[in-house]
Amino acid sequence: MLTTRQSLAFGLGLTAIVIAACSGPSGASPLDGTGSPNATNGGPHDGKQGARRHAPGSNSPPVAGSGIFGAPLAELTAAELKDFADGLEEFQNQETPEGGLGPIYNNTGCFVCHSSPAVGGSTSIRVTRFGKLTAGVFDPLSSRGGSLLQSSSIDLAAQEIVPADANVAAFRQSTPLFGMGLIEAIDDSTIIENASRSGVTGVRGTVAFVTDVTTGKSRVGRFGWKAQVATLLHFAGDAYVNEMGITSRFFPEENAPNGDLARLAASDHVADPEDQVDPITGKGDIDHAADFMRLLAPPPALAAAQSGAGDAIFRATGCADCHTPSMKTGASAVAALSHREVRLYSDLLLHDMGSLGDGIAQGAATATQMKTAPLWGARASGPYLHDGRATTIDGAILAHAGEAAASRNRYAALSSDEQRHLQDYVNAL
Ligand code: HEC
Ligand code: HEC
Repeated sequence: MLTTRQSLAFGLGLTAIVIAACSGPSGASPLDGTGSPNATNGGPHDGKQGARRHAPGSNSPPVAGSGIFGAPLAELTAAELKDFADGLEEFQNQETPEGGLGPIYNNTGCFVCHSSPAVGGSTSIRVTRFGKLTAGVFDPLSSRGGSLLQSSSIDLAAQEIVPADANVAAFRQSTPLFGMGLIEAIDDSTIIENASRSGVTGVRGTVAFVTDVTTGKSRVGRFGWKAQVATLLHFAGDAYVNEMGITSRFFPEENAPNGDLARLAASDHVADPEDQVDPITGKGDIDHAADFMRLLAPPPALAAAQSGAGDAIFRATGCADCHTPSMKTGASAVAALSHREVRLYSDLLLHDMGSLGDGIAQGAATATQMKTAPLWGARASGPYLHDGRATTIDGAILAHAGEAAASRNRYAALSSDEQRHLQDYVNAL
């Protein structure tokens, strides 16, 4: 089946690595045959950053402010554009066992799971979370390698599996990273204010307070399906270690396969931390990846979103109660991120979604709480919802439950014309 994402990628003529058809938590590299210019790139994680860089100009980034998916923010300085280009290169790097990949991991590069309709986007590749629910209390089975499964290994003896005593398992798909710097630059206080407002259906969200590992401070979480992370550098370090098995200064310890330190020791041959800070640039791979995400432009909205009946229906139906159309960033050292409007369509709060919850407690979120998914760029991010269960906007809305049940019922009661206006509106954001 040709997905929206695939047709879009072809329609725009982007150099997207389209792997939407490869779903499932398999760690097999879906790169073969994609013609990716980076598929063979890699290098040792030995701290000699220069040794693992692409040849300059091997893949020039899209033009700033060009209004396409994957472009850098408009109005960046020359130095910021260079940070974006360096970050893009790191984001497209494919890791190898010699360079620190594994011993257990989910895939070999950020771009593998974040590539459609352009590098930095999403894919329908899913990861598996597991845990054990006893009398309403969730145990992430941390001592058994939970709650994230690493589905691949560089050495069969290190292979991790979902332990037999887990009684909850959930799939989560990757999310698009366009505009993440704008989301990062929203002040905690702005998100906290959202929690004191109740919309037309009386719904009120919960702030996810989490610890940011890069500063040790309590911050408002905003990234991930559970709002479990507050900053992009934290998420980059988390993704390097948990998706690829690459340790860094914030995450210096490898994941042991199902918690088994002996099996880890037998297959872990690269000294930690594998990602070293380059003394010249003061940056490691995690910093470059964070730069790329921070400077990536938001999804380009279509003009249709500004006109038509959709906006009024979106508000009256209660969608805007959680999918807050816009917020403002605070002050930022990057001028292009400072005091800007962010049209993300999310309150960045947690909501109890009832049967739509994924059953995994994480960060500040309970098993049934999920962060309101931003809707900007939704036309290019299907399939929808945390596990990709919905292939259409209509299907995604109808799966809303818990606190969103009232809004879902209002939607279900609309005429088919009104429903279509609302879907067209969401598809233009
Ligand atoms: C195996 C596939 C996979 C790989 C490899 C991967 N990611 Fe992800 N990414 C995901 C999934 C799945 C999620 C959703 C995570 C969640 O909330 O449980 C995600 C979410 C994110 C988010 C949160 C965005 C948001 O919407 O709030 C960021 C940031 C991110 N990834 C960055 C990275 C970076 C940087 C790398 C490389 C170091 C990377 N990812 C590698 C699968 C992947
Ligand atoms: C109570 C808060 C709430 C309300 C009201 C609500 N949503 Fe959502 N929405 C969410 C949450 C939370 C998610 C993520 C759920 C998940 O994947 O588990 C979500 C996900 C979505 C998605 C999927 C996005 C993606 O990237 O996968 C779409 C589309 C969507 N909502 C549209 C709507 C529309 C349209 C309405 C109004 C009819 C609406 N929502 C009402 C909270 C809400």
